[in-house]
Amino acid sequence: MKRTISLLLCLAMLCGVLTVGASAYEADAAWQRYYAQYTEDGSAVYMAPGADESERNFSWYAPADAGSCRVTVSDRDDLSGARTFTGSNLKTPEGDVRCKVTVTALQPDKTYYYKCATDTWESDTYTFSTLSGSDFTAMYTTDIHVSFDEEDADCLMNQSYTFSRVLEDAAARGALDLVISAGDQASRGFRSEYTALVASPVLRSTPFALCPGNHDRKGIAYKYFTNQPNEYKKALVHSLISYDYYYVKGDVLFFVFDSNVGSMTAHRNFVKQALRAHPDTKWRVATFHHDLYGGRIPHREKENALLRTIWSPIFDEFRFDLVLLGHSHYYTISNAMFGNKTNQSLVGLDSVTDPAGTVVMVSGSINRPRIEEDGEEPPVGENVAYAYLSENPVYNLLDFSEDSIAIRSYEPGEEEPFHTFTIVKTSAQGGHPADGRDFYDPFVRFLSDVYGLVNEVWTTARFRLHWNDFVGK
Ligand SMILES: [Fe+2]
Ligand SMILES: [Fe+2]
Repeated sequence: MKRTISLLLCLAMLCGVLTVGASAYEADAAWQRYYAQYTEDGSAVYMAPGADESERNFSWYAPADAGSCRVTVSDRDDLSGARTFTGSNLKTPEGDVRCKVTVTALQPDKTYYYKCATDTWESDTYTFSTLSGSDFTAMYTTDIHVSFDEEDADCLMNQSYTFSRVLEDAAARGALDLVISAGDQASRGFRSEYTALVASPVLRSTPFALCPGNHDRKGIAYKYFTNQPNEYKKALVHSLISYDYYYVKGDVLFFVFDSNVGSMTAHRNFVKQALRAHPDTKWRVATFHHDLYGGRIPHREKENALLRTIWSPIFDEFRFDLVLLGHSHYYTISNAMFGNKTNQSLVGLDSVTDPAGTVVMVSGSINRPRIEEDGEEPPVGENVAYAYLSENPVYNLLDFSEDSIAIRSYEPGEEEPFHTFTIVKTSAQGGHPADGRDFYDPFVRFLSDVYGLVNEVWTTARFRLHWNDFVGK
């Protein structure tokens, strides 16, 4: 009984609270002009990864009477010979719609030009490129925390500017093929925050893979804003704003979990379905929001301990190579983890070949970087191989190839990365010690399923009761 109460209390802490507030950079005059035009247009065009490299997913806002939603795509800049794809409309709580369109049958290694349109509106012409082969570069970021703040009318503008500067810093270092976020893109889950999130022109050309954090589900806008491929809708328990989903890029299968949902059976079944569709991709990379091994906030340690118990068997059973997390706002890279403990120390190393377990990485926040006073130093050497604290935003470039994932971590404006780390794998199995087993403690699994169900019912009821608190913001 004591263990049950303790676990339930820990699960109840999953909805942690962080304050909104200032941004790292103040918007310059050019961004102020651009942002005024961007918000006046209001469409907030967003490009997400498709199911694989032959697809891209789009979404944007349109009036309820705007007619069909369509994306026109051509490999010529005058859009001659274009193909047009139509999609669906999802009515928003504000009364307009969010268009959702998937573009398919894209050819590898091509540059495409596109426009989003309805019967009453069309976007500018934008461009994106497709890959061939397994080499590509992804930017991994987390906890962007674009924030609506009643006390600060410029907060959204300044924080979108901050994120855009970080994106441009990353793009200036070479081709950027994907942007990955590990959640808390918004602070209150409001529509205006997601509109500001994708203001950067970099995101018109680069697919942006989102992940629901605890702050994203403080509102309902995430559900309307996103257009996620391969959503797992068979689960008995899922949150109101998202589903687990997966996509393939190069030789990597990306799993994106909604870790707000505690039901491990649902998450495990999702992984099994993704692996049935893609059993042979060499690399398995997961993203979800809640930190496991790198947190520095003492009151969150019970939550982290519980989450480790829940998630580590999934890493072990399905031999995940790299897990990208957020939530704690502290940069850490773990040792090679197996059985919820260090199986191979990576302390002091800048590369590892066939690590004997899963490497778990957490990046810092873009608009809410933490500083030394916020918590204790992560215990490097226990489960953390490397930690880095900064008052500035940090981001990471991940160079994927057939044989390796090379991580370069930067502060914007700094020429050299503050940390690099490379994972080399010589076979699909790599150095993972076991495969194909169910490592769960049946008691923890049962409890997580029951809690997941109760929590989602409670959260849904809360949204219905307080609907007007977040609609129109
Ligand atoms: Fe956060
Ligand atoms: Fe969080």
